[in-house]
Amino acid sequence: MRYESLHNLRIPKIGFGTWTIGGKICADYAQDARSLTALRSALEQGYTHFDTAEAYAAGHAEELLGRVIRASGLRREALFVTSKVSPEHLGYEDIRRSCENSLRRLGMDYIDLYLIHWPRRGMNLAEAFRALNKLVTDGKVRHLGVSNFNLKLLEEAVALSDTTLLTNQVSYSLPDRTCVKNGVLAYCQENDILLTAYSPVKPRFIRGNKPLQALAKRRGVTPQQIALAWLVRQPRVITIPMSFNPQHQAENLAAADMDLTESELIHFEK
Ligand SMILES: NC(=O)c1ccc[n+]([C@@H]2O[C@H](COP(=O)([O-])OP(=O)(O)OC[C@H]3O[C@@H](n4cnc5c(N)ncnc54)[C@H](OP(=O)(O)O)[C@@H]3O)[C@@H](O)[C@H]2O)c1
Repeated sequence: MRYESLHNLRIPKIGFGTWTIGGKICADYAQDARSLTALRSALEQGYTHFDTAEAYAAGHAEELLGRVIRASGLRREALFVTSKVSPEHLGYEDIRRSCENSLRRLGMDYIDLYLIHWPRRGMNLAEAFRALNKLVTDGKVRHLGVSNFNLKLLEEAVALSDTTLLTNQVSYSLPDRTCVKNGVLAYCQENDILLTAYSPVKPRFIRGNKPLQALAKRRGVTPQQIALAWLVRQPRVITIPMSFNPQHQAENLAAADMDLTESELIHFEK
């Protein structure tokens, strides 16, 4: 596994997403067995960064993740857990309550990385960071970050965070290069902020992309692995693909160690 090293941390280039673990917007308890199997398999295969949110399955993704981690017997310090506060909970007391609820569902006494999931029009970002900074000083949260922030909001967040802002989590993939066009990626790279790429796999794009499929065939890997390798070869970029399928999970993890040559990269210039 390759890592990003910054601020005395080593974060794996490829972590594990949990959107649809335990349900989607609502908890779907009928899917628990499938979700628990997927999480156990991810842990056994060596994923150490897990990305979740209070919004995922209305908190049930956090419950299942916590359950599997506790049962694994792994040391808490061996894992890196990201969770997120929802945009409707950005008031001072709301953030503190959301964090307590996430900690209770996870069964943990701290969260490694806590993000504002989405900005909200009219939000008081200074007030939100007053609460987030307090969570860090109280030891409930180790690092702060944001998600879906444009460049202007990201700069504001950096200025308001008492500790170094660790990440902006945004959609980034071969077909979605918004963060390149809007300057967010360059800003992150210039300021040692991780860009966590979500939705990196995009099945429909992959199915329709003949050059990508041909390159994967030549290399003896899958197109999804090429898509992930393209992301994580970029400085300060990490990603968090999600899969219920143990074979896909293993392939995704292995993609972190793949190299792409300059001539192969020509396929992906835009
Ligand atoms: N901050 C935000 O607003 C935000 C938004 C979206 C997502 N996220 C986070 O990012 C994570 C990843 O994004 P995502 O879940 O939207 O999309 P994703 O990981 O790009 O795609 C997931 C889909 O791709 C398939 N897949 C994954 N690896 C594969 C492989 N090697 N071969 C074939 N198919 C593969 C999975 O199917 P199988 O199960 O069949 O493998 C699943 O249907 C989420 O789980 C969540 O933690 C954050």
